[in-house]
Order: sequence, then C-alpha cells, then structure tokens
Amino acid sequence: MGHDLVIVANRLPVDRVNDERGRSTWRRSPGGLVSAIEPVMRAHDGVWIGWPGGTSQRLKPLTIDGLHLVPLSMSEEEIEEHYEGFSNGTLWPLYHDVVAKPEFHREWWDTYVKVNRRFAERAAELAAEGATVWVHDYQLQLVPQMLRDLRPDLRIGFYLHIPFPPAELFQQLPWRRQILEGLLGADLVGFQLPGAAQNFIRLVRQRVGHKTHRDLVYLPDGRTVRAAAYPISIDAAGFEDLARDAAVEERARGIREALGDPRKIFLGIDRLDYTKGIHARLRAFGELIRDGELSVEDAVFVQVAVPSRERVEHYRNLRDDIELLVGRINGDLGRIGRPAISYLHTSYPREEMAALYRAADVMVVTPYRDGMNLVAKEYVACRVDDDGALVLSEFAGAAEELRQAWLVNPYDMNGMKAALLEAYEAEPKELSRRMKAMRKQIAQHDVKAWADSFMTELEDEAHHGHTKTVR
Ligand code: F6P
Repeated sequence: MGHDLVIVANRLPVDRVNDERGRSTWRRSPGGLVSAIEPVMRAHDGVWIGWPGGTSQRLKPLTIDGLHLVPLSMSEEEIEEHYEGFSNGTLWPLYHDVVAKPEFHREWWDTYVKVNRRFAERAAELAAEGATVWVHDYQLQLVPQMLRDLRPDLRIGFYLHIPFPPAELFQQLPWRRQILEGLLGADLVGFQLPGAAQNFIRLVRQRVGHKTHRDLVYLPDGRTVRAAAYPISIDAAGFEDLARDAAVEERARGIREALGDPRKIFLGIDRLDYTKGIHARLRAFGELIRDGELSVEDAVFVQVAVPSRERVEHYRNLRDDIELLVGRINGDLGRIGRPAISYLHTSYPREEMAALYRAADVMVVTPYRDGMNLVAKEYVACRVDDDGALVLSEFAGAAEELRQAWLVNPYDMNGMKAALLEAYEAEPKELSRRMKAMRKQIAQHDVKAWADSFMTELEDEAHHGHTKTVR
C-alpha cells in the first residue's frame, strides 16, 4: 500500500550523527527547507524520502516524532560528486548570481543524474495510485521527468527554494537543456519570486522551443506545465508563541546581561555561506566603530555562523576570511570585556534563536543573493512588542514582502553603513510603525498559507492540465 503524499528532498528533516559516546543518533538538519516542509507532512500524513547525511547504508524506513521517513543512502563518491560537487559547486553559485565561480565537471553531472534517478525510483515505489509527489530544490531537478516516465498517473509538483537565475547566467550550464526538461516533468513548478518563474518560462521557450503563454508551458504531448511564484514563509504563530515564552524572555535578558548590557545589540544569524554577505556587514560595522559613529561601550555585533558544507573549498576559505576579519576588528577596536563582535561558529535550537531575536535591537540580513531568507521573517515574528529594526538586503527574496525594513545594497559599503546607523538611531515610534506592518505581512502569509496555495494549485493543475489547449 502506497502513500498519498510523498515528499522528495535531498535531506531528511533529521541527520544521522554520532553522539559524544560514539553511538549513532538523529539530529534536526540545518536550513530553511526542513522547517517549511515539516508542517505539510504532518497535515497530510505523508512520507519523506531524503538523504540522512553521511554514508550510512541500509537504513530502514522509520517514524520520528510522528513523521514517516525513508532514508536514502549516498556513497562517499556520490556525496562528493552529487552533493558537494554538482549541487553545491556548480548549481549553487550559478543560481546565486555567480557570486562565486561555478565549476563544470562531467563526472559531477553523471553522478547527479544517477542520484536523481535513485530518488525518482524510490518515490515511484512509495507513491499510491494517483498520489501527489512534491519534489524539492536544486539537488533534484531531474526527478520530475524521471518520475513521470516511471509513473504517469502521479501528480507531480516541484519547488525551487533558491533563486532561479536569468537566462544570461543559466546559459553557461553545459546541461541546461536536460535541467529544463527534468523540471518540465512536473505539473507545477514553484519559485520564490515571479521574476524567477519568468526566467524559467523564457528559457523553456528559447532553449527547449516549447510554446508558452504567461505562466503556462504547452508541451507537444498536450500536457501543460505551470510555473509561478509561491514565496515561502515560516510558522509565524509558532515563533510568536516561543518568543512570548517566559523561559525565552528570561534567556533574552540573560544574553543582554552576558554581553555587558550594551545600549544596542546588532545580530546576524546565517549558515556560513558566501552568498550571505557576512563579511561585508561585519566590515561595515567595524568601520562605524573605527569612524567613531558607534562605540564598543554602546554597541556589539553578535554574529552566529552556522557550520555548513564544510568540505567544499569555497566554504572553507570563507570561514578563514571571516574569522580573520573578526579577529582584526576585535583586536583593533575592542576593549577588555568589550569585543566589537561576539562571534559564534555553531548552530542553536529554536528556543535559543528566539531568545537571540528577542535580545537583538537591529537584525542584519545582507545576502548578495538569497531565494527568500527565513531568518529575516523569524526575527519579525519574534518582535512581539513591535520594536527592533530589520536591515535587509534588496537581493533577498524577503525584501519583496518586507518593504518596511531598511533595505540595503550589500555591495554598497557606505549605503550599508548609513542604514545600520539609521536603524540604530531610529525613534521608537518609527520602529513600531515599520515593525507592525511587517508583522502583519508575516502573520497573513505564513508557511501554512504557502503550502496550501502550492498544494491547491497543484491539484487543480494536474486535474485540468491535460485537457488545456493553446489559447
Ligand atoms: O534552502 C536551501 C538549502 O540548500 C536546502 O536545499 C538545504 O537543505 C539547506 O539549504 C541547507 O543546506 P545543506 O542541505 O547543503 O546543508
């Protein structure tokens, strides 16, 4: 007996890891994708196929915390070539505006195809007749068509959590046509922003030669594929409740105290990724102190850098660069007991994140390119007193919704310094006006609304898609 909803994502919501005593156990995996899908799984009693991290073989399906999980193993070579290589050394930088140089290797591509096929085959085994399969993200762009070939009865959705680049950049990819055809196996292809969906439609027209009209692609076999934007969100009510929790409030006070009760706390929380603009924001903050605009007696910058993709070269270099900069800024500008930057290379549970959000006066989110950025939304959800300032890059998807943030161009150092200072000095009335509007936006567009709108459209599209004709 199969499942009516199958989620296919590169990662499971939990990782297989060894604890301090060497026993293997499960730990929540990093990233926004996991937090977004979990509520959908619960609502539909679905099954989730994904890689549990590492190279553990022969893991059986399991249920953790009510979630049905099917681990799919990868060999060391597959991790290197599919995950670290093609996904994170080729597609990730290419899709993020080439902020780092993408590498193109034929062996990486071959392994990407092989791993995508394994995911598709497992999904084909697990799905009930006529089931819905929802495939996620750039690591699995070939799965929709592979799955359709195996199981034409299924309703297939695909959602890209990261940006989809303009044709001028995507065109560099030697396997551009295969990727587009892979995605076209879905009935509905979802993106974060309308611009990304338009990039996709334009590429399909130019490179694959299919007819398109607005958000629809017409395939020669009579099927239609819709490509549209579904901006992802967070469990806003969940974060709000957490932020109001007495223990979290107490912890927020403890954090402020431990930092020496400065006048204002700046905060950055990111996966340690070169797309996030961590270096640029710390430099801007350091310059403000050097210029005498801010002082270490009054202000501190807490930067949490969550370890990520540590075996990929760009990521290792980035860590060294950031730690060098933090050391320099603190060495040059800090005083005893008053470092300019409080830097933490670690990941925290949701409770500690909520306490940090509550403790911080200015949240600084400055990616060079980001599909959405859920940290920005989490901060807003946690500001239950309608205070605090958000400094947000124009190049994060979230900037299209959070218009009342201090929007910055992370490449413009002076612009960023000016925005940090303005946010630092803003009057409570101004902060409250902006935060209220952003909180309303997040409350109305939470992750449940995101998932519902994608699933509803998928059901509708798969139902009618086959009979639509060119208008
Ligand atoms: O949201 C983008 C994303 O790449 C997810 O696909 C991924 O699970 C998450 O960030 C964390 O990255 P990784 O799985 O490479 O640790």
